[in-house]
Amino acid sequence: MEFFSQYVIPPTRGQLELLRYLLVLTYAIHLPFVGMVIGATLLSLAFNARDRDIANPTFARMSKDLMDMVLPNRVVVLVFGVLPLPALWMIYGQWLSKSTVSMFTLLPIGALVVALSFVPLMAYRSSLDPAGRNSQVNFGLGGIGLATLLLGMYILIGAVVRFQDPERWHLAHDGFRWLLSFNVIWKFGHLLLSGLAITGCGILFFFFNWSGREPIRDAKYAQFMKNFGASVLLATVILIPVIGFFYLITTPTIALSGAVYVLAAATLVILFLVFLLAYGAILSPRPRFGARAFILVLAVFLLTGVGDQLTLVNATQEHSAALLTEADEIKAQIELEREAHRAASQVVDVARGEEVFKTVCMTCHRMDERLVGPPLKTVLPKYAGNVDGLISFIQKPEKVNPEYPPMPAPGLPLADIKSVAAYLLGEVDDAGTSTESPQH
Ligand code: HEC
Repeated sequence: MEFFSQYVIPPTRGQLELLRYLLVLTYAIHLPFVGMVIGATLLSLAFNARDRDIANPTFARMSKDLMDMVLPNRVVVLVFGVLPLPALWMIYGQWLSKSTVSMFTLLPIGALVVALSFVPLMAYRSSLDPAGRNSQVNFGLGGIGLATLLLGMYILIGAVVRFQDPERWHLAHDGFRWLLSFNVIWKFGHLLLSGLAITGCGILFFFFNWSGREPIRDAKYAQFMKNFGASVLLATVILIPVIGFFYLITTPTIALSGAVYVLAAATLVILFLVFLLAYGAILSPRPRFGARAFILVLAVFLLTGVGDQLTLVNATQEHSAALLTEADEIKAQIELEREAHRAASQVVDVARGEEVFKTVCMTCHRMDERLVGPPLKTVLPKYAGNVDGLISFIQKPEKVNPEYPPMPAPGLPLADIKSVAAYLLGEVDDAGTSTESPQH
């Protein structure tokens, strides 16, 4: 937090709004991906273990196919898994800047652990043998990767979920207690289940609907895969509302509002539709509904993201108000300084006027001689007592004397024009007195 307070000026109202959209967007990219990595690795490890008990080519193949599905290459991992992490850190840093919460140490730690977990996970993926000779070693790699990812996500989710409990922000200095709350635990469970759900429909979608993939030739394997994916989806879709309910009742009341319940109800409707699709996929002999189920589960992730930012908005209202006041104050301060600067620039400075006269006007004017323009002594007297008239002439010269060409506008700042006008009128006054005095 201190880190951010140092560099970040409090966001204005518009920026705060933008941050919220960014947050939902980041969630919509990151969480489904991480959820799917968790779900697929979990299932892959389970198949892997079964395969080592009783060598089974179906299980070995499934174990590998799942990992190939979620971690196809480094770019995907980078874009969906790693890049959103610093973005999250920045967004929360801005939003909660100047708050007393110091859990900003937790957020980067969680993000770092999550990012690092992809190293053993990628190693696990490439260690899997399609021929089905899985060993202790690759099982270990997968286990380490999954454990690291879970730990990182728990820290990340813990840090973020606890933002919505400002009454306990003081606990932030005690990282461990900060992370240990039912609210966090349910949220974490919710992510695990959603992760399994999107893995389930990911199997239906990526293996059967994805155009970039070769169709599976082995009919028995395809049948097994379809039923497995649909069953995982079916089971998790039933459990998600249960865990969601526990999450909601442990959420601090300050974070809740009517809109949060509306979102929860909408999520429930979508989950019911997914349930029907998953059921249909099991009944149907052919793989179907994968794409539709996948999109709906993504929508669940999106709605959850919107809900998360709503609860955070509710919980941090007071804090945001303080931030906005501060932003307003800073803005007013800047405005004041600008005003002062402007006022200072309007000051008439005769010395500056003389300088401007010598550098600009003297290309065409002398006091007593005709040059390009008329000798000023002959034209200035009509402006005596009428500085404004002179100023407006210099600003925007008009055609006066047919004996002369028109004077081009010198394009000077107003302050300079005022100064040169003051200087010139002073000059005529002096000249006037000096020429008049001998007569008296
Ligand atoms: C490029 C040449 C040029 C420059 C530079 C120039 N003037 Fe002139 N100025 C003229 C000409 C030509 C006229 C005559 C215009 C006319 O009578 O229509 C003139 C006319 C004037 C007049 C007489 C206006 C009137 O009401 O008869 C004043 C006063 C004057 N200039 C002031 C200035 C001042 C002050 C500057 C410097 C900021 C300046 N001029 C710079 C060419 C110039």
